Amino acid sequence: MARITPATIEKICTRNGQFYVPDGIKTSIEGCLANDNEELITEEYRRLMDKFKEYRLLTRPALIDYKKDLTLDAYTIYYLSRYMSIPSVALRDLTIHPFFQNVPDSFNVLDLGSGTGAVVLGLLSLFSNSPLSRVAVNITTLDCCAEALDRQKCLIKKAGFNSEQVHHYEEDLCDINSCMKLVTKESPYYLIFLANCLTELGHDVATELVGRLPEILAKNGAIIIAEPQRNYIKELIRTLATNAEGHGLYVYYPCPSIGCPPPYGSWCWVWRYHEYDFPPIKVNGQPIQKEPRDELVLSWLILTRQNVSIYDTFAKKRSDLLWGPISRVRPHFGACYGNREISFERDYDVSPSYKRGSIVGLSSELEVKEYYEM
Ligand SMILES: C[S@@+](CC[C@H](N)C(=O)[O-])C[C@H]1O[C@@H](n2cnc3c(N)ncnc32)[C@H](O)[C@@H]1O
Repeated sequence: MARITPATIEKICTRNGQFYVPDGIKTSIEGCLANDNEELITEEYRRLMDKFKEYRLLTRPALIDYKKDLTLDAYTIYYLSRYMSIPSVALRDLTIHPFFQNVPDSFNVLDLGSGTGAVVLGLLSLFSNSPLSRVAVNITTLDCCAEALDRQKCLIKKAGFNSEQVHHYEEDLCDINSCMKLVTKESPYYLIFLANCLTELGHDVATELVGRLPEILAKNGAIIIAEPQRNYIKELIRTLATNAEGHGLYVYYPCPSIGCPPPYGSWCWVWRYHEYDFPPIKVNGQPIQKEPRDELVLSWLILTRQNVSIYDTFAKKRSDLLWGPISRVRPHFGACYGNREISFERDYDVSPSYKRGSIVGLSSELEVKEYYEM
């Protein structure tokens, strides 16, 4: 067993409070680019960004074609470098609970809708650092896009990681039975990731898929869902959280108990922003000019097989407080607690700026007594 705490993860993955891309990953992104024209790549990035924005308010799956080299170039420079922090954020969240602080010496991970491998590279990179390098991680990835998987293989190799640690499957997630048959071979999985993938699936497929995952999830394992902040996803997250117990799963984060605050009905209002430091990636030997200042903005849902919750840790500290995630910010603050949203006040002049998705402990008078930034 290796012992991991949130401080272990932060020490490895953050610099000046921001997540960052290690040099080995930066050079592997550069080394796998198919195009050497920065203008074309940034134009493609803008097209992708506009497409993702267009889907923010639409209530249907995002349809994006990742097959073209130019699309893969733009995605790996601008999105992979951001999303590779997903495993670090997830492990930091999990290790807040003592149950997840003792990590097995060897475990399997499944990454569904893996694409160019942001989660895979993030994990390989994280577990190449001491003290985590003692842990043997075997990763299984699945995606329907052969071109994205090829780029992933190139990135793993160029970054100098052991490709034998990663198995790749090309399959359509809509064919859930075939996918389950394929990935069962390397099960049970300690961690199963669905990152920026459910956003491209119908709600029916997504709910059925997540409902089948306990079949291949280790008894001490967790499912990590990190998806774009769009209404389509907020609605899905609420459904998945509500259905969890019916599938033998428990919501670890963000809900403190099953259910959502009534005023907002069908959506989950908890999403999070994390800052990351965009690496100075070079195209054709020149650092790219267009440096996006975007943050990592995602809606998270962490589900576990054991009945453990991030709030166990906080309640142990102060059982007299009402603990919940911040679901509303400025000008009126609110936190989810049980089946309701409770509004709380803060003093603008003296309090820190509370962030959505972070955890707050309120007194019975609804005063903020504790705040934990997530
Ligand atoms: C936005 S990318 C996310 C890739 C990676 N997880 C990340 O966070 O960067 C979405 C991925 O989901 C894959 N995908 C979409 N629909 C799929 C389906 N029906 N079956 C398998 N993969 C699918 C796409 O091919 C693409 O690689």
